[in-house]
Amino acid sequence: MKLTRIRDAVLPRQRYGYPLYGSEELPFLRAAAQFNSQLMDELRQHIKPGITTGQLNDIAHQYTLDHGHTPACLGYKGFPKSICTSINDVVCHGIPDDTELSEGDIVNVDITSIVDGWYGDQSETFLIGDVSDEARKVTQVAFDALHVGIHAAKPYCTVYDIAKAITMFAEARGLSVVRNYQGHGIGREFHQQPGVPHYPHAPTRKSIIAPGCCFTIEPMINVGVPETFIEGDGWTVRTCDAALSAQFEHQIYMTEDGPEILTQTENGPREGHEF
Ligand code: MF3
Ligand code: CO
Ligand code: CO
Repeated sequence: MKLTRIRDAVLPRQRYGYPLYGSEELPFLRAAAQFNSQLMDELRQHIKPGITTGQLNDIAHQYTLDHGHTPACLGYKGFPKSICTSINDVVCHGIPDDTELSEGDIVNVDITSIVDGWYGDQSETFLIGDVSDEARKVTQVAFDALHVGIHAAKPYCTVYDIAKAITMFAEARGLSVVRNYQGHGIGREFHQQPGVPHYPHAPTRKSIIAPGCCFTIEPMINVGVPETFIEGDGWTVRTCDAALSAQFEHQIYMTEDGPEILTQTENGPREGHEF
C-alpha cells in the first residue's frame, strides 16, 4: 500500500526528468509569473533615453522588495545585480551600471522574481526612441520567433519541434539563432529540466514537453553570426561580430490542451504586435 502510494505520487511526476505541476501548484506558478509581469509593466514606464540601466535595476529591486518578494538574479551564481540589461550587441546577462540608454539603442530587460518560493521569468527587448531598420527588424523577428515557438509547443512535443520552428523562422529572414544559451524548465527552481534549445540539432533536443511542464522559451536572435563570447566581467555575453542581438522570453505552462503563457503583461506587446 505504502509503496504503491509512493510510486503513484512521486515517480510519475519525474517521468520526464522534471517535475510535473498540477492544480495544486499552478496557482503558485501563475502568481509568481503574474507578479513578474507586473514588475515588467512598472519598468516599462521608465525605459526612455537618459535613464541608466543601474537606475532600472534599483527600481526593479525596490519594487520587488516593497511587494514582499525576492529578485532571483541577485547573487545567483554570484550575479551582482537584480535584473539583466543587455544593450545592442549584448546578447544576455548584461550587468546594470551607469550606462544611459540613448536614442537608437535596443535593450533587453530580463527579470526574474521569487514569489513564495516559486519563480517567474521573462524578458522583453525595448526600442529606445527612433532606431535603425536593422534594430527594428531583429527585435520584430525575436518577438515573432518567440510566438512561433509557442505555437510549435504542443502536449508531448519535443523541444526539437520548438527549436526547429524558431530557427526556420529566423533564418528565412536572414538572421541567426544563438546556440550557447537556451530556455529552461522553471518552478521551485530558477533553472531546471528540460533544457529548451532554440536551434534544432542541439544535444538537448530530445526532451518531451508533457502536460504539467513549466518552462521558458527565450530565443536570442542575431543580425550577424550566432557565435557569442563572455566579457572579462564573467557575465556580459556579446555577439562575436559586434552586430545587434534581440531577445524575448515568456514562461509557459503546458496544459492538456496546449501552452498557456504565464507572463503576458497588461501593457506590453502581444502576439502580432508591430514594432
Ligand atoms: N533570466 C535569465 C534567464 O532567462 C537568467 C539570468 S541569470 C543571471 O534564464 F544570473 F544572469 F541573472
Ligand atoms: Co529564463
Ligand atoms: Co530570463
